[in-house]
Amino acid sequence: MSQPKEAWGSKLGVIMAVAGSAVGLGNFLRFPGLVADKETGGGAFLIAYFISLLVVGLPICWAEWTLGRFGGSQGFNSSPGIFHSILRKPWGKYLGLLGFIVPVGVYFYYVVIESWCLGYAWHSFSGNLDLKGAPAFGDFFSTFTGQASDGAVFSLGSPFWFFAGVFVLNFIIIYRGLSKGIEFICNWGMPLLIIIALVLLARVMTLGTPDPTKPELSIWNGLGYMWNPTDIAKGLSNPGVWLKAASQIFFTLSVGFGVIITYASYLKPKDDVALSGLTATAANEFCEVALGGLITVPAAFAFLGASAVAGGTFALGFNVLPQVFAGMPGGHIFGGLFFTLLFIAAITSSLSMLQPGIAFLEEGLGLDRRRSVALLGLITAAGCLLVVWFSRDLKALSTVDFWIGDIGIFLQGTLLIYVFNLGLGTERGWQQLHHGADIQVPRIFRHVLRWVSPVFLTVIFSMFVLRNVAGWNLSFADAAFTPTEQILDLVGSETHPASHVARLTALFLLVFVVFSSLLIHLAGRRWSRQSR
Ligand code: ALA
Repeated sequence: MSQPKEAWGSKLGVIMAVAGSAVGLGNFLRFPGLVADKETGGGAFLIAYFISLLVVGLPICWAEWTLGRFGGSQGFNSSPGIFHSILRKPWGKYLGLLGFIVPVGVYFYYVVIESWCLGYAWHSFSGNLDLKGAPAFGDFFSTFTGQASDGAVFSLGSPFWFFAGVFVLNFIIIYRGLSKGIEFICNWGMPLLIIIALVLLARVMTLGTPDPTKPELSIWNGLGYMWNPTDIAKGLSNPGVWLKAASQIFFTLSVGFGVIITYASYLKPKDDVALSGLTATAANEFCEVALGGLITVPAAFAFLGASAVAGGTFALGFNVLPQVFAGMPGGHIFGGLFFTLLFIAAITSSLSMLQPGIAFLEEGLGLDRRRSVALLGLITAAGCLLVVWFSRDLKALSTVDFWIGDIGIFLQGTLLIYVFNLGLGTERGWQQLHHGADIQVPRIFRHVLRWVSPVFLTVIFSMFVLRNVAGWNLSFADAAFTPTEQILDLVGSETHPASHVARLTALFLLVFVVFSSLLIHLAGRRWSRQSR
């Protein structure tokens, strides 16, 4: 195979691009939503979160960078291609399936939420979100996202055009290529994002006690609500807390997406991956914990109290926070800035979800950039239209989020660590990680990579399966066996009827998996011909 034609413009550029991919809605919406969750949030969640960061997040991030740069040196840029080149078995390329499915599948709904952010930024700046009373904000969100009935978004005008515009914008940028498209946007977007976040943080931290008649509702008590560990033993004995913490680590770092492996494949064989992986991870954690967590939860708590904070990710971001902004002087500017921040964070991430697909279509099917962009545009348009059409209660969105965004990412992260240890070999992988490295990774991480990460992930996933499929109650905190809502949506129960939309969405995803496997089969034939 010939060397990859695309390359990063600079060393900083690739770190910006990976950090851009990592810092996204996960940092500013998903993380605060999880921390604020009454059942599985709070200090216990944060403990599980930081342990997951050290035990799986950072090590697998290094593994993914290493596998990617190695695959790139063999002339491959996509997960199927890279696994094919490492494993050198006819089935190897199929293990890379998730590295194509996951980023494209997450894009199906991620870009839709991204368009809400842009729409909300627009409406905040133009004063349309100066509403009165909590129900008015709920109604605005429900109308904007078409939750009343399926197909509603298509008759709403502006929400549909926001979606269509953002979708096309992503493809225009991706068409410009790695350096002129993704790197350019991230080099500008990331500093801008940090500046906006710091402005918002300064505003939130100086809010004090917004309503003097309710002194308990203060920023400091909001911080305490988030950080004070209450009932740690109960929280940490609940496997659901660990699954959520590990999934969030994968989601937020863009590890297990198939993104980092592709991005790293465009490095030169002697470019550093050890310090770059650490820097991108640290930048993401700064944005998540120090910016995302500190802005959203304390502000919502200080204005509206604990009950408003714990309403879930979307409620917090699109319902509670607009109320908070509406209640402060110059709120439409701060609200507009907050949603602009979300939009920038989201677009630098959604772009990264397209590149693995483009790389695969180019090297697997031999398509040029124009054709691969067009084909990926068609595939993602089909998935996005499903999500946008079945907007009632956001059913299609939550179904794709669960099967691809939770389960798919988790499996791909687990697979990566096994391929690193068993395909490349732990010792060889460790040497590869240090090839051209600007830092020496502490040797303890070699053992973590070899033993702790795979065991940790395998145990958590087995618990999840046992709980959901075999009906084994693993939550010592609650006695009732309750399978995850999305599984109930598919199989139905006496109290929870199956959802037709969830079933249709799952069928669509299945067809997507079969179609993608077929493409990988075709790619394999091409690669075999080329290596003869
Ligand atoms: N890592 C990206 C995020 O956190 C996908 O949103």
